[in-house]
Amino acid sequence: MQKGNLWGADVARRYDTPGSGMFAPEVLGPTVDRLAELAGEGAALEFAIGTGRVAVPLAGRGVPVAGIEMSEPMIEQLRTKADEATIPVVVGDMATTVAPGKFSLVYLVYNTISNLLTQAGQVECFRNAARHLEPGGRFVVELWVPELRKLPPGQAATVWQYDPGYIGLDTYDVLRQHVVSHHFRFDETEQAQLFRSPHRYIWPAELDLMAQLAGFDLEARHADWAGAAFTAESRSHVSVYRLPAAR
Ligand SMILES: C[S@@+](CC[C@H](N)C(=O)[O-])C[C@H]1O[C@@H](n2cnc3c(N)ncnc32)[C@H](O)[C@@H]1O
Repeated sequence: MQKGNLWGADVARRYDTPGSGMFAPEVLGPTVDRLAELAGEGAALEFAIGTGRVAVPLAGRGVPVAGIEMSEPMIEQLRTKADEATIPVVVGDMATTVAPGKFSLVYLVYNTISNLLTQAGQVECFRNAARHLEPGGRFVVELWVPELRKLPPGQAATVWQYDPGYIGLDTYDVLRQHVVSHHFRFDETEQAQLFRSPHRYIWPAELDLMAQLAGFDLEARHADWAGAAFTAESRSHVSVYRLPAAR
């Protein structure tokens, strides 16, 4: 699986599903509400901004938003919705690329920190977030909780979603802490469409340690954007890390 091809023109063209899935108002509404609240009077920077699923409505709320994104085809799709003056984007790797300006909020949503496939890269990403923030600034990470409890010894795969027309299947390499997500989309014909993405999964405690290495404290962790309690059964979390007010 070539990382460079993963977010190519085909995927970028099909990424947006206005009004449904990750673009449903019940998903995006609380996401944008919470991010607008956390940005306060300042500006926000989205790591891996993609096609602007979150950035476009956040900018629509009056929050100045900028982005860093590796895939030019994804940025092209964003440009059909917002121009460079409205949402400036720097092309590059979110672990190392610097965007101009200072921000009160950096955010990295939809499990995308796991697209960095090494622990060192993920720690660099936290350091890069800190580099862009004003004192007291926040870094928000939305990430799934690895489903390791579903994996008895000897089993290397789990089905995490099964709907009519869709199967989500993960294969694990627990030694390297890697998982490959397989998304099968099919209809009543024999043909299925497959999208595969490699990830390095992160337990919340490891994420907190990465944050600490970059100078952050954990300010809040919830199970969703609306503030549901994070429990042992939560499948995902929204974690808010904060830099000290004066460094
Ligand atoms: C699941 S999409 C999320 C896009 C957007 N944040 C959203 O919530 O819809 C993942 C995005 O991460 C980008 N990406 C993956 N690794 C990256 C990296 N190291 N640096 C910058 N962007 C990256 C991909 O090109 C893709 O646009």
